[in-house]
Amino acid sequence: MSHFSYQNGVLHADGAALPAIADQFGTPTYVYSKAALLENFGAYFDACKGRDALVCYAMKANSNLAILDLLGREGAGFDIVSGGELLRVIAAGGDPGKTIFSGIGKTVDEMTLALEKNILCFNVESIPELHRLNEVAAGMGKRAPVSLRVNPNVDAKTHPYIATGLKANKFGVAFDDALDTYRAAAALPNLDVVGIDCHIGSQLLDDAPLLEALDKLIELIDQLGSEGINLHHLDIGGGLGVDYGAEGDKPPVPVGTYLGRLFARIDAWRAEKHGGQPIKVIFEPGRSIVANTGVLLTRIEFLKPGVEKNFAIVDAAMNDLMRPTLYQAWMGVQPVAPRDGDKLIYDVVGPICESGDWLARERELAVEPGDLLAIMTAGAYGMTMASNYNTRGRAAEVIVDGEQVHLVRQRENPADLFALESLLK
Ligand code: LLP
Repeated sequence: MSHFSYQNGVLHADGAALPAIADQFGTPTYVYSKAALLENFGAYFDACKGRDALVCYAMKANSNLAILDLLGREGAGFDIVSGGELLRVIAAGGDPGKTIFSGIGKTVDEMTLALEKNILCFNVESIPELHRLNEVAAGMGKRAPVSLRVNPNVDAKTHPYIATGLKANKFGVAFDDALDTYRAAAALPNLDVVGIDCHIGSQLLDDAPLLEALDKLIELIDQLGSEGINLHHLDIGGGLGVDYGAEGDKPPVPVGTYLGRLFARIDAWRAEKHGGQPIKVIFEPGRSIVANTGVLLTRIEFLKPGVEKNFAIVDAAMNDLMRPTLYQAWMGVQPVAPRDGDKLIYDVVGPICESGDWLARERELAVEPGDLLAIMTAGAYGMTMASNYNTRGRAAEVIVDGEQVHLVRQRENPADLFALESLLK
């Protein structure tokens, strides 16, 4: 169910009216629903019940400490891509022992920190990275748990910027090189080869490419087993998409359906080849946990009729929400208090000095200056991709719990933005 609905003609997040949030915290503000978050995570958690499975939330989608805390309490692990993200996990009370470290460019410092904190696994993407990790672990007198990210060369059929499992992508070890790379890893004394992982792309609406990738991983796991390299877990990555609500868009396969199919294949394989002995399964979902939990609340500053287009100029901009301009992503726009009157077609744009600063194009709206708009399904890759371009402080973030509204990140002040800068001595 949607946790954003009209009650008495006004858009609410669960029991909280968005105009009251705008009055109290200003705009632009990201508004998240706690109930939606728990519901989304619950769909993964329930589908994994009774199994040796771990849902490592890909926190790049939304790394607010309060979100991490709520998910951690529900049993989530975390998928991180930097030392900074690991520090966030720890600051939020998350468990490093349930944290996996993805990414192609891990530094020595990041590896050291992650080894100190005893993370669950390093998802390694190249031979030079294996060597670096082995050296760092040796220097600390430790063995680093590793999984290799294999690139299964499966077409995820998504936007080219967020497809990651093709031969032409920078990610992972090529499928054909995987065996050799595993042999190299197994020969390094300070590495413990424990798993295999992949991540083929994001915003996948269909699970067929994910199941195809699973089959490739299964094939490799069995080949490795025959060489005495026995893996304890398989990590299928994240990638399940969400419904952004554009006309004609196909809804994504439900989480329970996808996980059901995936486990069915895994169970059949384990029964046939491994005497029914289970293997641990890890997921790295980001978007499907947080996207529909949030909206970006923004106020119209001016309406500007143009020669060819009408513009609704709002106080949020591309620095707050990059997805539209970066991926030509379609995000829903809803008036918070819809009014009667003639609708006009508007481009919803921000105040930044770039023509690329738009949030939505060609939307039919009946609006006046001062009206609030909600940019829908903005909980994933919204705030985490925000910048300070044009010396704009980043938005505030609040989480709604029933009727209660909690400020979970204060709005940045301009003075915060240049606090780390200095003049020449
Ligand atoms: N695991 C790895 C290794 C990843 O690279 C990603 C996302 C995920 C998991 C989580 O994928 P998800 O479940 O969220 O699809 N900024 C883009 C999306 C970039 C995704 C990058 N990797 C957007 O706003 O559409």
